[in-house]
Amino acid sequence: MSDAGGAAIEDYYLEERLFPPPEGFVDQAVVADPAIAEHAQRDVEGFWADQARALDWFDEWHTVLEWDLPFAKWFVGGTLNVSYNCLDRHVAAGLGDRVAIHWEGEPGDTRTITYSELLADVERFSNVLKGLGVRRGDRVAIYMPMIPELPVAMLACTRVGAPHSVVFGGFSPDALRDRIDDAQAKVLVTADGGWRRGSVVALKENADSALADTASIEHVVVARRTGESGGVTPMTEGRDHWWDEVMAGAEASCPPEHMDAEDLLYLLYTSGTTAKPKGIMHSTGGYLTQVAYTHRAVFDLHADRDVYWCAADIGWVTGHSYIVYGPLANGATSVMYEGTPDFPDKDRWWDIIERYGVTILYCAPTAIRTFMKWGNEFPERHDMSSLRVLGSVGEPINPEAWVWYWTHIGGGHCPVVDTWWQTETGAIMISPLPGVTTCKPGSATFPLPGIGAEVVDDAGEKVERGGGYLTLTRPWPSMLRGLYGDPERYRQTYWSRFEGRYFAGDGAKVDDDGYFWLLGRVDDVMNVSGHRISTAEVESSLVNHPSVAEAAVVGAKDDTTGQAIIAFVTLKAGQDETTEHGEDLRGHVARHIGSIARPRTVIFTDELPKTRSGKIMRRLLRDVAEGRDLGDTTTLADPRVVEEIRRLSTTRPTED
Ligand code: WTA
Repeated sequence: MSDAGGAAIEDYYLEERLFPPPEGFVDQAVVADPAIAEHAQRDVEGFWADQARALDWFDEWHTVLEWDLPFAKWFVGGTLNVSYNCLDRHVAAGLGDRVAIHWEGEPGDTRTITYSELLADVERFSNVLKGLGVRRGDRVAIYMPMIPELPVAMLACTRVGAPHSVVFGGFSPDALRDRIDDAQAKVLVTADGGWRRGSVVALKENADSALADTASIEHVVVARRTGESGGVTPMTEGRDHWWDEVMAGAEASCPPEHMDAEDLLYLLYTSGTTAKPKGIMHSTGGYLTQVAYTHRAVFDLHADRDVYWCAADIGWVTGHSYIVYGPLANGATSVMYEGTPDFPDKDRWWDIIERYGVTILYCAPTAIRTFMKWGNEFPERHDMSSLRVLGSVGEPINPEAWVWYWTHIGGGHCPVVDTWWQTETGAIMISPLPGVTTCKPGSATFPLPGIGAEVVDDAGEKVERGGGYLTLTRPWPSMLRGLYGDPERYRQTYWSRFEGRYFAGDGAKVDDDGYFWLLGRVDDVMNVSGHRISTAEVESSLVNHPSVAEAAVVGAKDDTTGQAIIAFVTLKAGQDETTEHGEDLRGHVARHIGSIARPRTVIFTDELPKTRSGKIMRRLLRDVAEGRDLGDTTTLADPRVVEEIRRLSTTRPTED
């Protein structure tokens, strides 16, 4: 199987394999009407104002957009509350009994939560937060498994106006501590543990070690999930509180704060090109406007009858926007699943789709490729005729996987929407529209109405047809408002490479029909199973190890995960290049950052190729890694690697 870059796409494209929109999607009032798309082109602000009117505002804005590049303000003067829009207004409209979340735990336990029930929990938890001293503007850190208490905690934060910072439950204590410190969070919400492949992830234990050297956290709320199976959970008197106990003592009613459209809704840390993760800031009004709009438009959502399942984890932006805020703002019914696709067996996903009658499925190409590898017999033995729309996100989807998804999961009648966006964009930016766009497998097709996207060359000139860098040409409502505590880094990272344009960090090309093809990152960010990991972050973790002199990390092509982390390591004198040593280093990174960052392979080398200015030639190392059959090797001490590095670095011009 080949990846989405290079030849595979060309082949499909040359074959002119077009997938016209299936029928039955004609009533997409929000987008299907060409007049609306035309309006979006002619009057972008008017178009976004119309989308903002789909929300309930306490006070309407006086100005749609104030743009002082690179700082945007949307719906200036408007006030609203996110939890009110996600819950109260649906209950007030008589939809209180509609299921908001069909939750399924990994061990097979289930909960069905209606909009009224979710509102009741959120109001109570809002009062819990207030009782612990959380005031408007205070930051709350959340470190939880995929259990209903997670969206409850997030929505309660939005209700009282406290920005949340959700830290993915797979992250290490160090990663949690850094994020808590950067945000100076006052309260941490966590759980005793979480389930993963039948064993307990010790979240509270991790939290305790993170808190051992942070000063800002005053209180910790602990939801019970794994109970006795995770052993006894140590609770610190005065600081730690069990979720159920504080909830039982909380007042039932909590009126929503009237928040300014531009108030900080949340922080989400993401990997950049340096070792320090960036705190991406999202606003209240613009963010909710665009996630709600895109969730309706891109998935052709009919909230009264669809059962929608986004299989991401809420710890990442996909979960924030398309498990929590988009679907709830639209009054949708969602499935939320705690575990992995292969537990207890490889039927789990298809079984969930069959049992809940899922109509819309949104997941990552890495999952799709894994299912392809497992074989067709798993999806084939389930009735998945309820499905209508299939979405893909997180990395380029290779045409083979696209066609497999269309054929074997969608039965040939579901449009596949490949959605391009980023933590920074907050919401989907480039995507087909079901029932509207003719697809080419592997292409995210066109920018959505209201979005300006162009590919440019090195000089920043627009490329009409051909390859280059993906840029965004105008502000959009859900754009990041900055990097927490570092406005200069914000300007520098996103707005300095090409004048007047946001640079996304992705390579892309535009074909002869104007279709956009995303070609992956062009910076030092890796994409492993749809998760962003910075090469610098893994390198800095490796050089922290006492035996490592130097390390260079690259993302090499991988058939399943898109990219795999390959670490080239030079050991200090006297250290042994043994398999055990390599394993130790892999474990070190997993403990330091989280298991998603564990290198697949550690290659020992006594030499790292550098440019004259001392920059590591990562591209060369990637070629070395990709040119070898690394198979399942986890550690490699192979003198030929060194020879090859030497040979390539002398035959190739330097890269800077
Ligand atoms: C990549 C995830 C190709 C891209 C929502 C981007 C994609 C990074 C796609 C953002 C797609 C995401 N096709 N590439 N449909 N979607 N990407 O911040 O490289 O975790 O810059 O947001 O993922 O990753 P992030």
